[in-house]
Parts: sequence; structure tokens; C-alpha cells
Amino acid sequence: MRFIVADLFQEDFSDATVVTLYMGQDVNLRLRPKLLRVLKPGTRIASFCFDMGEWKPDSVSTFGREDAYFLGCPANVSGKWVWTEGRGRSRVRWEMELKQAFQEVSGQAIRNGSPFPARSEAQRRRDTLQS
Ligand SMILES: C[S@@+](CC[C@H](N)C(=O)[O-])C[C@H]1O[C@@H](n2cnc3c(N)ncnc32)[C@H](O)[C@@H]1O
Repeated sequence: MRFIVADLFQEDFSDATVVTLYMGQDVNLRLRPKLLRVLKPGTRIASFCFDMGEWKPDSVSTFGREDAYFLGCPANVSGKWVWTEGRGRSRVRWEMELKQAFQEVSGQAIRNGSPFPARSEAQRRRDTLQS
């Protein structure tokens, strides 16, 4: 194990597989873009006391009087995706335009030119809880 005294905003920690934080709300929010930009998808983040604002945690645990927030770094999947599956008469052309807010993904899929509903697993779970 190595201990490094450094400024989080300058240090390269892109090879981390787990990031543990006990910083402050302001630092967390300023650090958020860097976490999303440099960490590999799937990297786990545990933040004691302070959450990540609109980037909602996947789970929360309480230790004594304080909460700890657990998040997984999402892959960036936003943008336009086009692919085909099958062959001959069963060939299907898909187009999908995805918008992403942290781990939540939504968008419109087009299957052979016709709209096809698409939503992320996180969005589906939230819709299910709200109905
Ligand atoms: C809530 S305190 C936590 C102190 C300590 N980590 C602990 O576990 O008790 C937040 C700490 O983050 C440090 N900090 C603030 N901005 C930082 C930065 N850019 N890079 C590294 N540390 C920073 C502060 O100096 C402060 O010590």
C-alpha cells in the first residue's frame, strides 16, 4: 500500500478500482466531472458523509450517525447507435439515440424505421417504484 499526499484535482488516479472519499459536499461536486471522465466504467466509489448531488448513489449505508454513499462509475453510452441483427428477410436494423444523466440512460430506439421504447434498468426500476 502507498500513501500519497497530493491534490485530488491534479493527481492521476485513473487506474483506481475503488475510490473512497471523505471530503465535503463542495469538493465532491467539483470532483464529480473528473471521476466520471477518468475512472474506468465499473470503478466503485464510496463517499462517507457527503453524496454526489444529482449523481444518485446505487446504495446507502448508515455508520453510526452518518451515511456512506456507494456509486458505480457508469460507461458513457450517450449518442447515436446503429446496428443490424439477423440476415436476409429476418434482418432487423436498429437505431438508438441515447441521452445519459450519470447512470440513467433514456432514449428512443427505432426498429426497422418504427419507434421502439427503450429505457435503462435504473430508469425501469424507478418507474416501477413510482407506479
Ligand atoms: C472531511 S475532511 C476528512 C479528513 C480525513 N480524510 C479523515 O478521514 O478524517 C476533508 C479533507 O479533505 C481534504 N481536501 C480538500 N480538498 C482536497 C484536495 N483537492 N485534494 C486532497 N485533499 C483535499 C481537506 O484538507 C480535509 O482534510
